[in-house]
Amino acid sequence: MQQSLALYRKYRPATFAEVRGQEHVTEPLRQALRSGRINHAYLFSGPRGCGKTSSARILARSLNCVNGPTPDPCGVCDSCVALAPSGPGSIDVIEIDAASHGGVDDARDLRERAFYAPVAGRYKIYIIDEAHMVTQQGFNALLKLVEEPPPHLKFIFATTEPDKVIATIRSRKRSSMSVAKRRGSCPPSMTRFTARKTDAPSPAANASTISSIRLASV
Ligand SMILES: Nc1ncnc2c1ncn2[C@@H]1O[C@H](COP(=O)(O)OP(=O)(O)OP(=O)(O)O)[C@@H](O)[C@H]1O
Ligand SMILES: [Mg+2]
Ligand SMILES: [Zn+2]
Repeated sequence: MQQSLALYRKYRPATFAEVRGQEHVTEPLRQALRSGRINHAYLFSGPRGCGKTSSARILARSLNCVNGPTPDPCGVCDSCVALAPSGPGSIDVIEIDAASHGGVDDARDLRERAFYAPVAGRYKIYIIDEAHMVTQQGFNALLKLVEEPPPHLKFIFATTEPDKVIATIRSRKRSSMSVAKRRGSCPPSMTRFTARKTDAPSPAANASTISSIRLASV
């Protein structure tokens, strides 16, 4: 037991193919990466320990691989090596733990830095972990950036409480946003929300899409 627990803590999947028991999420995501359907914001949700943070990191690795965006990061380019589970990390992929950095000052700080282009990778990617801990004021400061980011910017949120995150986002723009549940090609176990502006039917309105991806317990 002790040994398997140690393994559980140590082992982190490096690709979506290695994420176990979440094919309802990883397959559509891989397909989207394959066909170049890239959103600018993603929300991974699910119970504790189901692989949200791991999946967020894998998505970042898939997006910034030199051959990417790709469902199968090459594993050998500078970005893949840096973003491997045991790698040193990349300056272009910034992980923020909202439990300790979810306040309005942190959000403003992020907002200022986010406009600078990535240093080495294709995208500058913010992984906001425990996203339900971002305060209302924090989200207010971030919302415009999340809705209409510059092309080099991606957001990946991870949370156990997606409803809280979505409610926080909506409460800021209640009158101008609709949240539509998309079904169709998605398996019923996968919930996807599209948040889009209803008052501004401009080309940029398309840019305000957040994919919400719910992982199951493993
Ligand atoms: N579906 C999975 N496939 C393979 N490994 C997994 C999976 N889910 C979790 N793990 C492993 O369990 C550990 C915890 O995973 P991770 O940190 O991604 O979970 P989490 O959903 O972010 O948890 P938390 O809610 O506590 O933040 C990691 O070592 C990871 O490799
Ligand atoms: Mg986590
Ligand atoms: Zn690579």
